[in-house]
Amino acid sequence: MRRGTPQPKEERLARIAVIPGDGIGNEVTEVAMHVTEVAAAAFDIDLELEWFDYGADTYLKTGVGLPDGALESLRDDFDAIYLGALGDPRIPDMAHGKEILLGLRFGLDLFVNHRPVKLLDESLCPLKNRTVEDLDFVVFRENTEGAYVGVGGIFKQGTADEVALQEDINTRKGVERIIRYAFEYARSHGRKSVVMSDKSNVLRYGHDLWQRVFEEVRQEYEDIESWHLLVDALTMQIIKNPAQFDVIVTCNMFGDIVTDLCAQLQGGLGVASSANVNPHTGAALFEPVHGSAPKYAGQGVANPMAAILAAQLMFEFLEHDDAGAAIEDAVRRSIVDGQVTRDLGGSLKTDEVGIAVAERLAGC
Ligand SMILES: NC(=O)c1ccc[n+]([C@@H]2O[C@H](COP(=O)([O-])OP(=O)(O)OC[C@H]3O[C@@H](n4cnc5c(N)ncnc54)[C@H](O)[C@@H]3O)[C@@H](O)[C@H]2O)c1
Repeated sequence: MRRGTPQPKEERLARIAVIPGDGIGNEVTEVAMHVTEVAAAAFDIDLELEWFDYGADTYLKTGVGLPDGALESLRDDFDAIYLGALGDPRIPDMAHGKEILLGLRFGLDLFVNHRPVKLLDESLCPLKNRTVEDLDFVVFRENTEGAYVGVGGIFKQGTADEVALQEDINTRKGVERIIRYAFEYARSHGRKSVVMSDKSNVLRYGHDLWQRVFEEVRQEYEDIESWHLLVDALTMQIIKNPAQFDVIVTCNMFGDIVTDLCAQLQGGLGVASSANVNPHTGAALFEPVHGSAPKYAGQGVANPMAAILAAQLMFEFLEHDDAGAAIEDAVRRSIVDGQVTRDLGGSLKTDEVGIAVAERLAGC
């Protein structure tokens, strides 16, 4: 995962647009941005954060999720976007969230959803006898197509004859670019294999396209081992033998589901991070996998590690692998030292975990 770099990084100020969002998104983003600033200082990285109040409160006041011109400004004026989480019970249809998050994913064509599945400490894994070496792979979820495009309709709504249609969109361009990206990532990151997962035995048209494109693309990457698994078999294999996986590539919906399963294997949503990237344009958005968890908002109990690890992905994208690795190591050492929130069996508050991670980072 890399941005296209027009200038040497030393000469560039990295500008980050920060959208804390709703609920616990606010708390974890504050902590993650504190850690980001500590990492930037430790590694002498010129970073500027600009905060945006896009979210439920603004939407309820103004009726607008993403204002006119915001998409263009986020695209042109910033090196990366950082998002906390969106979701508020006062907006049950998530209208603002769709406008902001799906608006950014679709509007910036962030077709790669990159989700690392890495066990930072054995104590976090609910599977028996699994070591950190057993769980270290990456899932690439197609991020702009499938059922998420919202094509469909309802006929005879509210009657006994009601018909609901939801289309699953798969384009050759969309399927090919995510599969190719998975192979390119494997090759450039020393990963040995790529597994493509679909449901081609049932989705005879849409996922037949995935099959055909996969067969074509894999011919160009003979140095990378590759095979196919139906998504039901994939979920079984992830539980049974996660060590076999290096890179998994799949469609939007299966990626959504499979990565929540994977998040539990790494310690839960409190430690699962993600990046949304267009490697061709360099647009990128980083976020924890979790949502706004409204029932925990404002209590200081949310685990900020997923948000901090999203900042790690952001540093790697900005070509500061050293800072990214140091953040991961600081999070790992905080876990080993029991400096964690209650979801991981500890008693620290959100901001205290941030302090624990920042202390370990500053001393690196
Ligand atoms: N990308 C996003 O912004 C995003 C993603 C998922 C859900 N959502 C939205 O968030 C709202 C709440 O959704 P949900 O409850 O289904 O999912 P959620 O991820 O917000 O929370 C589910 C559960 O996971 C646990 N959890 C999540 N994050 C945690 C953290 N940082 N620390 C400790 N525990 C954590 C909690 O037990 C929580 O009840 C909804 O409005 C939903 O639409 C937004």
